[in-house]
Amino acid sequence: MNDLDSLVSQAHTEFAAAADANALDVAKSRYLGKSGAITVQLKSLGQLAPEERKAAGALINAAKSKIEQALEARREAIRDAQLAEQLAAESLDVTLPGRGNGKGGLHPVSRTIERIEALFRSIGFEVADGPEIETDFFNFTALNTPENHPARSMHDTFYLEGDADVLLRTHTSPVQIRTMQAHAARHAGADHMPEIRIIVPGRVFRVDSDATHSPMFHQMEGLWVGEHVSFADLKGVIADFLRKFFETDDLQVRFRPSFFPFTEPSAEIDVGFMHGDMKGHWLEIGGCGMVHPNVLRHGGIDPEKYTGFAFGMGSDRLTMLRYGINDLRLFFENDLRFLSQFR
Ligand code: PHE
Repeated sequence: MNDLDSLVSQAHTEFAAAADANALDVAKSRYLGKSGAITVQLKSLGQLAPEERKAAGALINAAKSKIEQALEARREAIRDAQLAEQLAAESLDVTLPGRGNGKGGLHPVSRTIERIEALFRSIGFEVADGPEIETDFFNFTALNTPENHPARSMHDTFYLEGDADVLLRTHTSPVQIRTMQAHAARHAGADHMPEIRIIVPGRVFRVDSDATHSPMFHQMEGLWVGEHVSFADLKGVIADFLRKFFETDDLQVRFRPSFFPFTEPSAEIDVGFMHGDMKGHWLEIGGCGMVHPNVLRHGGIDPEKYTGFAFGMGSDRLTMLRYGINDLRLFFENDLRFLSQFR
């Protein structure tokens, strides 16, 4: 074996021993670098006699290209090994069961609304609906609300730009009028109209924002119109509903005299807890009263023949009380850490 052959086989051995690209570069420089064995040989060609140079040069170049091939082969082998290693480290076990998507759940306010609907359905109420963008007529005028009433001011109500007649409803009460009008039209001329018994869940809007007020919030309107509907019925229905809603008889309901243009007499509904954290506190959860004769008239219903009661409760308030939540804004921030507690 001549010098060159042994250089080539030495290079093979060293390249094979190089564990990574850096080690391979170091090994490469020993043969092909500026002062590498092959380079040195090529430089020494000048010392040979001219007639020997050609043959010797060819031999050296052949050895050089063998070493270069060995280098390239090793470089590729190292790259492949690295890739294989990386793939193994990042391997996916496709036979594992999926993580799945988190289970969704109803928003706590939606739960309350569904609960209220179920309780009222059980005593013969239907669920009614109406637009969130209302006219001044349904939101105020038909509800006997005078021209100068503070609720009509821009400070309290969102009006649509360029149209003083159109607004975001400030309460669900306009659905009282819409429902009565449709009912009256359906039973026009009848001697005895069937009763109206509805609840109306919905969004309402007021210019108001702090820990207990949001510019958008939820109300639940109730309306019962018939031939002999009395304030006693109102009290019974509300008190019974609240005990069922809070799942306790350990609760007092107070009707505190108040004023609404669309009811007469009117009252605020207060809930008082006799035990627990809330013991001794009265909390206002809504308003109610006997439907004002003018309101019945606007609904196309004869106030001489029919009476009715109406109420409007805050669905967000009821939710806060039921779950012991003290900041209304939590409902509308959509923070999953909060919401997922109600799944
Ligand atoms: N609409 C009233 C409010 O938003 C509540 C209410 C409804 C009062 C029905 C009486 C009867 O404050």
